[in-house]
Amino acid sequence: MSEIKRAAGLLRAGELVAFPTETVYGLGADAANPQAVAKIFAAKGRPQDHPLIVHLADAGQFDAWARDIPAAARLLAATFWPGPLTLILRRQPVVSDAITGGQDTIGLRVPNHPMALELLREFGGGLAAPSANRFGRISPTMAQHVRDELGESIAMVLDGGPCQVGIESTILDLSGDVPAILRPGTVTAAAIAAVLGQEPAVGLAPGGDTPRVSGSLESHYAPRTPLELVSSDGLVFAVRNAIIRRERTAFLASMAQPIHHELIEWRLAPTEPGPFARSLYASLRELDDLGCDRLVVQAPPATAGWTATLDRLRRAAG
Ligand code: TXA
Ligand code: MG
Repeated sequence: MSEIKRAAGLLRAGELVAFPTETVYGLGADAANPQAVAKIFAAKGRPQDHPLIVHLADAGQFDAWARDIPAAARLLAATFWPGPLTLILRRQPVVSDAITGGQDTIGLRVPNHPMALELLREFGGGLAAPSANRFGRISPTMAQHVRDELGESIAMVLDGGPCQVGIESTILDLSGDVPAILRPGTVTAAAIAAVLGQEPAVGLAPGGDTPRVSGSLESHYAPRTPLELVSSDGLVFAVRNAIIRRERTAFLASMAQPIHHELIEWRLAPTEPGPFARSLYASLRELDDLGCDRLVVQAPPATAGWTATLDRLRRAAG
């Protein structure tokens, strides 16, 4: 039996299967089976009121999950799916509260990864899948990250190699009066505006005081080691400071190591936003595992191409 057939069989039996997407690895369960979905929350240690994204094989399955679908949603799906854009729409009444955290909306996405699409086609239905990490921690971009962190609690991990995008999808809320970006990603506000002819709002959707997007919590995507963002101008100072304070410090920076010292670990980061995002989470995990006193990341420029990466780094810094 092929790996994909076996994975689909496990999902039908209500088990958890981790699978690759172009953004990060997802922890998948049959979205139509509340007991299976409950296993996701248990494995991740995730609060029950945090809704899950349902992954679909194609936009043709829209109507099974969402209602009152605006033309904008169909247009964006036609443009960006399969791809790293999650659309928040009004849910169909049949969708279980376990998926939506009791809200009247649902997040839908068609991922752009051949293995994910093959699995979704073979499975046939929707797969609820958060990032396959413990709650609040760094999302996995390699199968080994998932095995290390959740190996015991899941039936199978499909290995599709390293994720090509490396950070989570853009979340766009289309359930309200104006389109609103709830989580920035590589599908940018400008790219969405170009399709809609309207600039999306940025920030939390109005009306909720509980976090509708767990990725909106301040401390998220976080390594264990305290992380600090430092501008390129401040890096030399940060190195000197670490040496004076006798703190073993790991740096992730695009500039060459200015001072060599036994207390300083230095990793070079890519200078372009795409490659930086692709390698970011694996680098943070690796640096975290060094067990240093502190991590210092060179802050990327606050320009449009870096919005999503900067967002994740700020949350990682808490
Ligand atoms: O790239 C991604 O989106 C990855 C891959 C696996 O697809 N998934 C992912 O899932 O990042 P997760 O659960 O780690 O983050 C999804 C975010 C959560 O913060 C959740 O609160 C939010 O989406 N979300 C899901 N449904 C929602 C809804 N109906 N309204 C508002 N936010 C929602
Ligand atoms: Mg997550």
